Amino acid sequence: MSPVSTPRRVLLDTDPGIDDALAILLGLASPEIELAALTVVHGNCTLSEAVANALAVLELGGAPGLPVAVGCDRPLLRPPYTAPETHGMTGLGYARLPVAGATPVAEHAVDLLIREIMAAPGEVTLVAVGPLTNVALALRKEPRIAGAVRDCIVMGGAFHCDGNTIPLAEFNIYVDPHAAQIVLDSGMPLTLMPWDITSRVQLMQSDVDRLLARGGPIAAFIAEATRFYIEFHRSHFGWVGCSINDPAALALLWWPELARVRELHVAVELTSELTMGQTVGDFLGKAGRAPNVRLVEQFDGPEFVRRFVERMEALIDRVR
Ligand code: RIB
Ligand code: CA
Repeated sequence: MSPVSTPRRVLLDTDPGIDDALAILLGLASPEIELAALTVVHGNCTLSEAVANALAVLELGGAPGLPVAVGCDRPLLRPPYTAPETHGMTGLGYARLPVAGATPVAEHAVDLLIREIMAAPGEVTLVAVGPLTNVALALRKEPRIAGAVRDCIVMGGAFHCDGNTIPLAEFNIYVDPHAAQIVLDSGMPLTLMPWDITSRVQLMQSDVDRLLARGGPIAAFIAEATRFYIEFHRSHFGWVGCSINDPAALALLWWPELARVRELHVAVELTSELTMGQTVGDFLGKAGRAPNVRLVEQFDGPEFVRRFVERMEALIDRVR
């Protein structure tokens, strides 16, 4: 990916979710991109909760008119699987936002993805930070989007670390492994930001306190959402901070200098309940198959968090 010089048109496929909500706010705070639409997918919470959260976070962030399209409410084949222990009963931790005045667009998320990408070949970047059900169905309905999308960033997978959902699998891939395989096989220009990296990109209470010092509803939201999220990370992993996976994945688009990537062939394990959703990287080059992703292998997490906090401060000051 080349450094971004003019605003890049971005479609964000998301399951908000606490870290998704932070990614949406970062997108609104970043002049390097034009957030064109949110396409919502099941995942961290139910689809209806995720849609309500997406609309409410956009209103909080001063973008109530940004299109939100409703996507798939369950995986392609696997049973629905949510993460209330991680994101709370509503998907936004302890935060409670006013019900948004806006409603979703009538267009299905899959159709919006296809229309937007095919309307501007080579211009649109797709960032997927939830289970890949919407993206997989868009590829099945219109395979040409694989060649028309400018690039695609996916947050997902676990390679040299334990998964965060089952021992071998990361949530987004675990929840819909079949969709992930379809995306990996599609030929899309994929950059994969794995749990290996994002687990260590942690927002600390001190960062949250710095935002709280500015006051206002955005800071209050971040504090209440991450209060739940930090409690989960402490009890589940024994960590001090909380992993802001999705903002880090999104920011690869305009801060590529923070990352080091390598070409790799990746496939998803689909045969056993014990290993379903494991992402298998051909690190030894034995599979005899061409690389299908650029895998992020290094990322300057502390610098990203510093820049993220600065962007949140700027958004807080702009949207009072
Ligand atoms: O494993 C972390 C990923 O799964 C993040 O995108 C989080 O929001 C959940 O969707
Ligand atoms: Ca997510």
